[in-house]
Amino acid sequence: MTITSRRVASPRVVCIDDLRSIARRRIPRAVFDYLDGGAEGEVTLRENCRVFEDVTFRPRQAVTVANSELGTRVLGFDLSLPFLLAPVGYSRLMHPGGEVAAARAAGNAGTAYILSTISGHKLENVKAASSGPVFYQLYLMGGRAAAEAVIERARQAGFAALVVTIDTPVSGIRERDYRNGMKELISGGWLEKSIHLPQVLSRPGWLASFLYDGGLPALPNVVVPGKGPLPLVDINAALAAAAVTWSDLRWIRELWRGPIVVKGVLTGDDARHAIDEGAAAISVSNHGGRQLDCVAAALRALPEVVSAVNGQAEIWMDGGIRRGADVVKALCLGARAVLCGRAYAYGMAAAGEAGVNRAIEILRTDLGRTLRLLGCPSTTALDRSYVNVPRSWEAG
Ligand SMILES: Cc1cc2nc3c(=O)[nH]c(=O)nc-3n(C[C@H](O)[C@H](O)[C@H](O)COP(=O)(O)O)c2cc1C
Repeated sequence: MTITSRRVASPRVVCIDDLRSIARRRIPRAVFDYLDGGAEGEVTLRENCRVFEDVTFRPRQAVTVANSELGTRVLGFDLSLPFLLAPVGYSRLMHPGGEVAAARAAGNAGTAYILSTISGHKLENVKAASSGPVFYQLYLMGGRAAAEAVIERARQAGFAALVVTIDTPVSGIRERDYRNGMKELISGGWLEKSIHLPQVLSRPGWLASFLYDGGLPALPNVVVPGKGPLPLVDINAALAAAAVTWSDLRWIRELWRGPIVVKGVLTGDDARHAIDEGAAAISVSNHGGRQLDCVAAALRALPEVVSAVNGQAEIWMDGGIRRGADVVKALCLGARAVLCGRAYAYGMAAAGEAGVNRAIEILRTDLGRTLRLLGCPSTTALDRSYVNVPRSWEAG
């Protein structure tokens, strides 16, 4: 059953930005800014969204397209939609349902969910919640032994692919998080928390559900042998010690033996590296502008990667998707599918699972309408002939 809520129904919510506004009013500033913000000057964060304006459509008029086919095939799975739900750490902070709710919403919509390593729910419960494919996003937090244990658990639970994020050798500096005391609120003592508490107390609805949920647990899927689940206080240090190298990828592939997706590629060279290490898919991504600021927008990096990969692996893209038209543009430039991060996370923060459902519904409706306006019968028929790209992009 798909859960709905009047809080996110039309006309209050007609686009993803409306979900963002409700999220901003419902959750504490520190949590909203964690979700909404990016690294340093947020140049890449802004550019990820803005760059879609550089690509314009070339519709085919006066053709009849009744119901456009929206599905695609990723890693051997037929999905009803060409977008997947991206890994979003600390989803349980946005709403107690968190990762379980997002996985259920994805499954109900006929698409896939990618579970972050930084999950507040056990991976087994997340997998059980979804009727669709679920993939596990791996950071090597907690060291190799912890990674070996989680890879085995993910296999046992039925996760269908590993998504290895390679753009996080250290966490990017998200200045809003520092100003809001995010670290202190998550893991500090009561004295450190106290100066940041007014913003939390001003959101009593969120606070009540957060406390009822038991606060944030240690990470249930990062279990360090002999020590137990990784406490939240250790996360930044754990990330800094968790850089992935190409040789780690070889080791991960030998352990996992299923499909591996490499997330965080921005150049043709890295794409070729990923293929050499056996990646079945690549996500062209700058982590939603949260890691190295001033790298290219994900959409802008896509053509270079598409031409370097030359059909040897699936290409996904993520960053800045807020409308169905954005999905269409990415597919026209050669992505097989895209990942949505904030688009559904705003929905989660606004209204839990109902909000994720609403985000998916908005993007699905947008997509169908955009294809019909373009005169295109299916997402798989989209190609460069449906868009104009700036001349400077043609070189790569
Ligand atoms: C709040 C938040 C947490 C994220 N956590 C993770 C994570 O744990 N692992 C990961 O690989 N990517 C993470 N990402 C990046 C997303 O998977 C995705 O690359 C990004 O959100 C895409 O950009 P968009 O938000 O503009 O759609 C996170 C993004 C956000 C917004």
